[in-house]
Amino acid sequence: DKGTYPHYMLKEIDDQPAVMRKLVQTYFNDAGEIDLDSDLLADLKAADRLYIIAAGTSYHAGLVGERLFERLAKIPTEAHVASEFAYNTPILSAKPFFIFLSQSGETADSREVLTNIGEAGYHSLTITNVQNSTLSREATYTMLLEAGPEIAVASTKAYTAQIAVEAIVAKALGEANGTDAASQFELANQLGLVANGIQALVDQKEVFEKIAQDNFVDQHDAFYIGRGIDYAVSLEASLKLKEITYIHSEGVAAGELKHGPIALIEAGTPVIGLITQSKTASLTRSNLAETAARGSHIMTIVSKSLANVHDDIILEDVDETLAPLLTIIPAQLISYYTSLLKGLDVDKPRNLAKSVTVQ
Ligand code: F6R
Repeated sequence: DKGTYPHYMLKEIDDQPAVMRKLVQTYFNDAGEIDLDSDLLADLKAADRLYIIAAGTSYHAGLVGERLFERLAKIPTEAHVASEFAYNTPILSAKPFFIFLSQSGETADSREVLTNIGEAGYHSLTITNVQNSTLSREATYTMLLEAGPEIAVASTKAYTAQIAVEAIVAKALGEANGTDAASQFELANQLGLVANGIQALVDQKEVFEKIAQDNFVDQHDAFYIGRGIDYAVSLEASLKLKEITYIHSEGVAAGELKHGPIALIEAGTPVIGLITQSKTASLTRSNLAETAARGSHIMTIVSKSLANVHDDIILEDVDETLAPLLTIIPAQLISYYTSLLKGLDVDKPRNLAKSVTVQ
């Protein structure tokens, strides 16, 4: 039920702080420790490499997961598009473990991979929003996203919930492996900060409505750029925009702009820089300036500790690895308002289905 909301998408964007808190309640015990199935943890510990398999937005959550698992658990991790992995399977490591990310739990492309790896005898975890969904039943283990029903075709709260659950699994595995990065990472506390940071963003909707009106509604192209984990979010931000506004948009690794995409920059083309990683912040700023010199309209989404007076959207500070949970929110809201202002069907964009059950 969307209650008093005009669209499911807006409600689901607003649900995100509560989902973050629910995940802390669900997966942490009273002592503040993560409650993970012990067989699952043993399987994860035995693995020499994690393969995250997903499609669309869930794949983008998997790209963030690569960084979370490598940083917190120190285990090599690869995210793959399910439809590619199914028919062009890479050479696997000696002891692979598979993680399927799927809001619906019904995506046929992911199911094809799960069938194949199950036949090969490998174990798997499905992280899904739908209990008893096909991918849940067919995997060895399931963890739920606890996001509540997601009705809008454009995925929002499932993406942030997937990232949070990946962080929970990564911390649990890292602690089991004895990594300092995991034991020193105060995840429950951080997810509380994330919930507050999301709330601060969804409380300023008029800011995003104005950006949509002034800088997006009349455009035919848009670019989100970033490096590392910010690049992973750029891909999702760009997908959100194209799905519901039909504006052509690309997420570009900031350093790649000059190797091609910069040719598309025209007067007024929006280029949004995502800047949450201290190591690469100044490089991304230089890449933004290169597009501004060609007439783009640049905007920045920046963590408070890296921000200056010229930045447009400031995010509350959270641990850098969890920044995607905040960075995506302005992009979700800008897409929502652009779609609304263009008079489009926000919740049911053309040509798309909520659950894709064909390959
Ligand atoms: C994007 C979107 C799709 C889905 C994709 C995977 O907003 O909704 O890209 O993310 O079809 O769906 P699930 O997660 O159900 O496997």
